[in-house]
Amino acid sequence: MKVGVLTGGGDAPGLNAVIRAVVRKCLMNGHEMVGIREGWRGLLECKFETLDRNSVSGILHRGGTILATSRTNVYKEKDGEATVIKNMKDNGIDALVAIGGEDTLGVASKLAKAGVQVVGVPKTIDNDLSATDFTFGFDTAVNIATEAIDRLHTTAESHNRVIVVEVMGRHAGWIAVYSGMAGGADIILVPEQKYDLDEVCSILRKRHEGGKSFSIVVASEGAIEKKSENEMLLQDQKLDSFGHVRLGGIGNYLAEQIEKRTGYETRSTVLGHIQRGGSPTAFDRVLGTRLGVFAAELVEEKKWGYMAALKGTDIVSVKLDEATGELKTIDMKLLDVASTFFG
Ligand code: F6P
Repeated sequence: MKVGVLTGGGDAPGLNAVIRAVVRKCLMNGHEMVGIREGWRGLLECKFETLDRNSVSGILHRGGTILATSRTNVYKEKDGEATVIKNMKDNGIDALVAIGGEDTLGVASKLAKAGVQVVGVPKTIDNDLSATDFTFGFDTAVNIATEAIDRLHTTAESHNRVIVVEVMGRHAGWIAVYSGMAGGADIILVPEQKYDLDEVCSILRKRHEGGKSFSIVVASEGAIEKKSENEMLLQDQKLDSFGHVRLGGIGNYLAEQIEKRTGYETRSTVLGHIQRGGSPTAFDRVLGTRLGVFAAELVEEKKWGYMAALKGTDIVSVKLDEATGELKTIDMKLLDVASTFFG
């Protein structure tokens, strides 16, 4: 078979480990490999490149994706589905391995129903995909955020400041709760539980009156204030082709409000895309490699419409539908544990 591989959506550390594994295993099984550049856009615009063993050499430790990525939605383009099917046929591409999050895999799931031979690999630093215990990229993001919190601790302490750290996580607070717990945050705010500014300030006051002169607040970009009419704080009103808004601003908002209400000098740090960049951790390299090899096995078994997933310590196959139906929000027990150390 001629097998195409693509990466879609936001990049995540470990993507190259998956690409390398898919390509190496499929080549080993006697298939021809083609890289599709820039996610679904590459399939709509025929941006193809042959992949051989050399093309995936030396990329395991590298961040980003050698295939580039985009947030193009096939189903928002005129005749998108028909164009994908035609371009695959015209270029002799028999099957696809789609590596992506909810949006990319949502498109893969619809294409599978339309008869396209496609399997998936789940990716997102946000770890909010159902049907898999962890997505690759999450561990790296958590480690980056934890290191940042450690560093912010020393400067907060030196200046007697409150520092608000804004981390990624649109609808799920996985990065906030893991990095906050690992970094010893004094408060963690997540999208799953609306926050009350009075409560946040009273926790900080108690802590400072109890003798501490600095605090660290970790907030997911998608955390929502209890009494606010508006939902998440946005950078602007633009939507991408999957209908997502650009979040951002909660760190600055909280810092301003905390300083105003408590009188404690407060600063905010937005970690942003630093969380997605650079070299993947060993955990993400191993997870990416296992998922990639398994996806190649799904191709071998012609298990179209399925994706590789981590369940416990095993890699298993699950239907693409299951992964894209519902977002996986945090286990609130984690926040309970973290809150033992608030204040
Ligand atoms: O990949 C998911 C994510 O990390 C979200 O947490 C964040 O809101 C979004 O990507 C931002 O991505 P971009 O700036 O690439 O649109």
